[in-house]
Amino acid sequence: MTQALHLDVDPGSDDAVMIALALALPAIEMTGISTVAGNSTIENTTRNACRILELFDRTDVPVARGCGEPMVGSFETAEWVHGPNGIRGDLPDPSTGPINRHGAEFIVDQAREYGDELSIVAVGPMTNLATALALEPSLPDMVANIYLMGGAAMTTGNVTPMAEANFRNDAVAARRVVRGTRPKMVGLDATHDATVPLSRIDEYKRATQPLKTVGAWLEYPEEVRKFGGGEEPAVHDAAVVAHLIDDSVLEFEPYHLDVDTTMGPSRGAVVCDRWAVTGNEPNADVAVAADTERFRSVLVETFERL
Ligand code: BDR
Ligand code: CA
Repeated sequence: MTQALHLDVDPGSDDAVMIALALALPAIEMTGISTVAGNSTIENTTRNACRILELFDRTDVPVARGCGEPMVGSFETAEWVHGPNGIRGDLPDPSTGPINRHGAEFIVDQAREYGDELSIVAVGPMTNLATALALEPSLPDMVANIYLMGGAAMTTGNVTPMAEANFRNDAVAARRVVRGTRPKMVGLDATHDATVPLSRIDEYKRATQPLKTVGAWLEYPEEVRKFGGGEEPAVHDAAVVAHLIDDSVLEFEPYHLDVDTTMGPSRGAVVCDRWAVTGNEPNADVAVAADTERFRSVLVETFERL
């Protein structure tokens, strides 16, 4: 039985690895992609989504361009992490483009079409999802699951001491989504352990296409490593899709969450009621750990098929 999957992405090199993984897994039917700015501008992330699908000869998957600005303020892009125009790997210009539908509307369309067969996986700033929720408040009841890659519940942030990049880039949207969708939040608590060995990346870089480009996406530039990563790169976004195939990849626990939207140093930080001191009922399942070996096995076994 296949799982229907809608991906909301800001590719982004780790987004690209996640898309490649989902495309290569026979158990997943990718029904659509919506794009959001974040790792780069909306022009670039949309273009990159089309380029990725062309690389895998999967232009049958519709791409809808979504929000280019957060609900408040402006996005801080991260080309220095992800590569020029937001992605590494020298992909040719795309010959295809997005459909004539806004990304947030497209998420609602997908929920109406696939209902509880659909899981939504959002791995960029939560702007499209928050907008979709405003358009269709019963969205969370319509679909099977809403997974978010974002936040840091009990650990420190990666773009500020307190906040993870996706949540920080649109804290208001992150708060609305966390409060309103009963999500499965896959944040840095788990994704820091969703790593790939450097030797595997070298092997992929020497392979033929499309694996060679996957190798480029996985590259770990020195300036990124120095910035606070571990010795091996974490492929944050791919952790969610790996878990959909092998549910031993992530371990979840229920907690009550909120997101700080103040303009101070904690903007975008997750407020996780770990010890249930507020008396609030859990409103999210939080990934508290990732099994690195299981994650690596899913990646390696799947990419063997490319
Ligand atoms: C998240 O931020 C983005 O830069 C990555 O693509 C990932 O979604 C990790 O904090
Ligand atoms: Ca991302």
